[in-house]
Amino acid sequence: MVKDLTGLAAAGAGLMLLAGPDVFAHPAHTKPVNHPFVVGFERFHGPLDDEDYLAEGGFLLLNELNCVACHAPSEALAADFPGVVATSLEGVGSRLRPVELELFVRNPRFAKRDTTMPSLFAGPDRDLNEVAALRAWLGSLVEEVPVHPLGEIESGRALYHRIGCVACHAPEPGYRPPGLPEEADIDLVGLPSVPMNLADHYGYGALVEFLLDPLRHRPSGRMPDFGLSPGEARDLAAYLKAGPDLVLPDDLVAALDLPAEEPDPALLAEGRRLFATKSCHACHAAPGEDAKALAAPAARPLSDLDPAAAGGCLSERPQGGPVPFYGLAEAQRSALVAALRRLPVRQPADPATALSSGMKRLNCHACHELGGVGGPEFAREPYFGTLLDADKGAETTERLPPVLDGVSGRIGNEGLRRILLDPGTAPKSRPGLATRMPRYPEALLAPLLRGLGSAGQEDPGAP
Ligand code: HEC
Ligand code: HEC
Ligand code: HEC
Ligand code: HEC
Repeated sequence: MVKDLTGLAAAGAGLMLLAGPDVFAHPAHTKPVNHPFVVGFERFHGPLDDEDYLAEGGFLLLNELNCVACHAPSEALAADFPGVVATSLEGVGSRLRPVELELFVRNPRFAKRDTTMPSLFAGPDRDLNEVAALRAWLGSLVEEVPVHPLGEIESGRALYHRIGCVACHAPEPGYRPPGLPEEADIDLVGLPSVPMNLADHYGYGALVEFLLDPLRHRPSGRMPDFGLSPGEARDLAAYLKAGPDLVLPDDLVAALDLPAEEPDPALLAEGRRLFATKSCHACHAAPGEDAKALAAPAARPLSDLDPAAAGGCLSERPQGGPVPFYGLAEAQRSALVAALRRLPVRQPADPATALSSGMKRLNCHACHELGGVGGPEFAREPYFGTLLDADKGAETTERLPPVLDGVSGRIGNEGLRRILLDPGTAPKSRPGLATRMPRYPEALLAPLLRGLGSAGQEDPGAP
């Protein structure tokens, strides 16, 4: 077990100085943006977009920020705006300590500046007794976390920079993946990376469990499943927990797997009640409840929203009451306004549009180019390697995941189904790649199968 890499840590610190204060030395601490981070919007949309394209970005946000969970879309558009199922709160009391639960519920942006969870307690009228009740109830949602032996930091570090994590998350500045030719330069990445400051609070065991089955913990599928072995998940978790010094505290397991609070039954009951009355259930499945027994969140339908309204969810300041506060960036706000204005003339998406928004939502573009859009960012290409010693000779294009244009012609609709639904056992077009094609929730793949498949063959999107 590698427990102390002081020399490496010192090298890392030196690099940080060189690179300036904006570069954080560990992927778990990468510098966050100061608004809810929606990767497909961040990469493909901006303040200079023309009105039509801006509205497209806004439609993406209406779904990804889960506006549609409270403001229901019309029946005709419901299929285009399925919304997002947020993190499962099952076992959350075994992942986060009471104080972290309290802070996150009170002000999610305080704990994770770029989180997509809005605050329901940011307004002037907030009642901290309600937060305490929610904390107590969340703290009671415990599950047994299996004890995992500590993984190896250095193996986790190599794995993290080789199998595809860096397509979406930050690389460690200055780290050179094994097999990279000596003369190859490593540039700093330009696109923002998906942050990790929430998982930074998880206990080691809980983090291993999350990595082994991310789709169970986070049904949104934004964090896909890499089919990690328990050993790989432990190595990755050890690396992610080690932080910039690459050292694990000796009592890591004891320090983080904390006992739950002593529950007060009245407080628990109040927290459970608030889960529905504060609209937490708009985004989170109700642990231990029959979801149908809870009243739907009360807010007006999407088509009735006045984008110019003061005091709604687009406000720059927290409004209080039942109105959530997102802390939107100006570009996000203009995109949402453009989308709400365009809503009355919006037609249900055709297969090409559904494919394009599906690829943005699930961030397939982090690894794949399609129609000239996306593909790995240039500065991240060095992290896409091969399992073969031949890394040195391989052309860049052979080291990258395949461009998806014409894919159904190459592998057929059946091949498509296999690689998307069961990437672990599907035949490989690039058997030597170290980067893995990850698995996504099956329910979200139909528009992608349909859009990538070729007409004329059996519809790959059909169940
Ligand atoms: C947790 C539920 C919830 C979510 C999620 C939510 N809203 Fe709201 N929103 C409300 C409530 C409640 C109101 C105030 C009552 C009303 O007007 O429906 C409101 C009001 C508004 C208003 C003012 C409406 C008017 O005509 O006065 C706008 C605009 C709005 N929301 C847009 C959005 C957008 C855009 C998002 C996503 C970024 C969003 N909302 C997410 C609950 C929600
Ligand atoms: C296609 C993009 C993508 C890839 C590839 C990816 N992730 Fe993620 N990951 C995400 C997104 C998006 C989230 C945030 C999910 C959410 O909001 O619930 C996330 C969340 C996480 C979290 C929790 C972060 C937090 O603070 O809440 C961890 C830990 C994590 N990923 C580790 C990994 C590791 C390790 C790998 C490689 C095996 C990996 N990810 C590959 C997109 C990706
Ligand atoms: C508009 C959707 C939305 C609403 C409403 C919402 N959440 Fe969340 N919540 C999320 C998302 C998305 C995440 C994942 C955040 C991230 O990784 O940045 C999350 C994460 C969490 C977490 C962290 C879970 C973990 O295991 O990491 C807790 C705790 C939580 N929410 C509690 C609540 C409570 C309590 C309420 C009601 C007061 C609530 N949420 C309302 C979207 C929402
Ligand atoms: C972390 C990087 C990564 C992400 C994210 C990713 N893929 Fe892949 N994908 C791969 C790799 C690597 C392969 C090549 C697998 C092989 O043949 O060895 C692949 C193969 C494929 C193929 C087969 C291509 C061919 O020519 O054989 C399809 C189709 C595909 N991916 C679609 C998707 C879709 C759709 C998404 C988003 C839902 C997605 N991928 C997300 C890495 C990724």
